[in-house]
Amino acid sequence: MHEAGSTSRYPGHLYTDAADASTVSMKILVVGGGCREHIIAERLSSEGNAILSAMKNRNPGISRLSDAVLQCDETAAGRIAGFAREKGADFVVVGPENPLQAGIADELASAGIPCFGPGRDAAEIESSKSFARGLLSRHGIPGNPEFASFDSESDAVRYIRSCGHDVVVKPSGLTGGKGVKVVGEQLRDNAEACEYVGEIFNRGIGGAGVVIEERLRGEEFSLQAVSDGKRLLPFPLAQDHKRAHEGDTGPNTGGMGSYSISNGLLPFVNAEDRNEALCIMQRTLAAMRSEGREFRGLLYGGFMLTDGGVKLIEYNARFADPESMNVIAVARGGLTDVLCSAADGSLSGSLSFEHTATVCRYYVPHGYGDRPVKGSPITVDEEKIAAEGVKLYYGSVNEKGGKLTTTTSRSFALLAKGDEPWDAAARIERAGQHIGGLVYTRKDIGTREEMQRKRSAGEALHRV
Ligand code: AMP
Ligand code: GLY
Repeated sequence: MHEAGSTSRYPGHLYTDAADASTVSMKILVVGGGCREHIIAERLSSEGNAILSAMKNRNPGISRLSDAVLQCDETAAGRIAGFAREKGADFVVVGPENPLQAGIADELASAGIPCFGPGRDAAEIESSKSFARGLLSRHGIPGNPEFASFDSESDAVRYIRSCGHDVVVKPSGLTGGKGVKVVGEQLRDNAEACEYVGEIFNRGIGGAGVVIEERLRGEEFSLQAVSDGKRLLPFPLAQDHKRAHEGDTGPNTGGMGSYSISNGLLPFVNAEDRNEALCIMQRTLAAMRSEGREFRGLLYGGFMLTDGGVKLIEYNARFADPESMNVIAVARGGLTDVLCSAADGSLSGSLSFEHTATVCRYYVPHGYGDRPVKGSPITVDEEKIAAEGVKLYYGSVNEKGGKLTTTTSRSFALLAKGDEPWDAAARIERAGQHIGGLVYTRKDIGTREEMQRKRSAGEALHRV
């Protein structure tokens, strides 16, 4: 990485450099109860830290790693800060976006507890799509499609009627990844887009107006990077699969699975494309600073490679789920030091990445995407899954009396490594035999055919 001293300004904690991460020892509170938080907690625990957790469900994987669990609404910033103080947490890592929007980092700062995750103002890069788009345009940063933001239905409708291209309608506020509708996918045409705008204003979806964008076409990819407000430490790229079913069909979901390849790029993304995306993120950080919203935490750019180059689809102010699992699994070095020093404003330590591919596949309740079946029993044979060389991360499930049940969200993820994605996918296929209950997964993620399709898509986009 960049300039850096290896000592932290945190008082009272023993800090070492990444090579000796096993001696780092703190009490770290992890906020969130999904697979992303499970792998974060597992990693921080393996680096010698004691884990505390705060989550709305009772995630068995995280609970097992924790000395104490607070089961609560994850946006209850004051309550979580109180728990952190009461349990003597030295540091807090926030997984999901909702607590960040609720100002958990600001609340913890007032309590004198450092936190990995931006304050409410900086988290607007995710929680306000109109702020994110506006920031790029104000600072002349490339990557925006044609767009306009509106606080009134009639202005938005008038704008759509004047557009000579298909549009995407986005509630500006947070909608858990399910509020965006694209003409040609969830919407038939621009007339239907106008109707959806009406629904957004009538029902208050997202609660903060709409952004109307030009519809882009291409392949999406995720670039995640730790930021101390000034510098970025990027992870390898990964690609999520948002649609519920094989072949990118069915409703949009929070993400059904993801893969990464051994060189840190993707079958359709070359080094130049990746650097273009990183450069957009670097300029965004500088813009945030200049507007008094220094961003310390994890900046996750959702990009699309189009025939017109790399475009920004959205920013997120947190690790991606599922792609966090792909990248943390291959990261070597002390993550604790990296996260703490970023929160402190002086990124130190370093990460290197194993040259291996990864595949992550979510198992979700039957009906997920439309009407998920909640509270149904699931069985998981952890030992047999581990014997296939596959990692299991628990998501939105509940455990009571040793029995697991589904919630309305993604239940758990299987993650495997391999020389090629299809080697990892084959392992996951075998491990999947040790799972029972009303859950389903996407069987195409990471397969040889899927990778070939991605490569061809990339060739077509680069040829133009
Ligand atoms: P977002 O919540 O902004 O990531 O949008 C959800 C999904 O909608 C993205 O993952 C894309 O698949 C799609 N999407 C968002 N913006 C655009 C756009 N301008 N053009 C085409 N698809 C888009
Ligand atoms: N990969 C989707 C998300 O984390 O929002």
